[in-house]
Amino acid sequence: MQLAGKVAVITGSGSGFGEGIAKACAREGAWVVVSDINEAGGRRVADEIEAAGGSAAFFKADVAKSDDTQALIDYAQSHYGRFDVLVNNAGVSHLRKPMTEVTEEEFDQVFAVNVKGIYHTTKAAVPVMREQGRGVIINIASTGAVSPRPGLTWYNASKGAVTTLTKSMAIELAPDHIRVNALNPVAGDTPLLPTFLGEDTPETREAFRASVPLGRLSTPADIAAGVVFLASDAAELITGVCLEIDGGRCI
Ligand SMILES: NC(=O)c1ccc[n+]([C@@H]2O[C@H](COP(=O)([O-])OP(=O)(O)OC[C@H]3O[C@@H](n4cnc5c(N)ncnc54)[C@H](O)[C@@H]3O)[C@@H](O)[C@H]2O)c1
Repeated sequence: MQLAGKVAVITGSGSGFGEGIAKACAREGAWVVVSDINEAGGRRVADEIEAAGGSAAFFKADVAKSDDTQALIDYAQSHYGRFDVLVNNAGVSHLRKPMTEVTEEEFDQVFAVNVKGIYHTTKAAVPVMREQGRGVIINIASTGAVSPRPGLTWYNASKGAVTTLTKSMAIELAPDHIRVNALNPVAGDTPLLPTFLGEDTPETREAFRASVPLGRLSTPADIAAGVVFLASDAAELITGVCLEIDGGRCI
């Protein structure tokens, strides 16, 4: 087991990639705090992990609210007495459309969750990790940060901020033995996918699939495999990496 005895907090783990990450971490022996703004989804995932013999608890938190993220980290620490891994996975997008048609409200929401959410979890988690003298943070960015395509400009920009802040956090936190890495997934068939497609038709899905050299979209299991590796001790010299999991899409 690659994560035996580690405590992992995963934001946005009530569906999609986060659900796959939470379940994979639990299978690898981690105690998982499933966190999401979506209470029903989060409770379902935690229950399914427990039913499969893993260890999980649900904690509702909106990453756009600092009180929530502080309460989340406090909960993880008090519940398990330690805290090893934070996965900043919660994310939203505006609908695929021309950049000038994205409303200010949509823009603010994308940045509030995708970027400021990481600011909030960082403020809560890093002091604890510093005190411990160790910790792992994994941010879920996107291929949109590396190889942006039309119609998702402000979402792409938010993920560009995530890859830059990942490297900046990695260098600033290295003296504290806190590793910070990111994953850049290609499109995956999660509840978020229709937002990226704009129009969800067999044709738009096929166009996405065809843009991936290895010929398929990503799955939660693909992303979870990257998280498990980066969170494990096998990756102890890896920090500041933004790893594409994209079937060659960004080449
Ligand atoms: N699916 C893709 O094609 C794709 C590609 C690249 C990157 N990503 C990124 O992967 C991550 C997971 O997305 P997904 O595709 O699994 O979509 P998803 O919608 O299934 O998962 C996102 C989760 O975040 C939660 N969430 C939304 N706002 C929140 C908030 N304010 N506080 C806490 N939780 C909140 C949602 O309830 C949901 O459970 C996101 O950061 C997304 O940007 C997705």
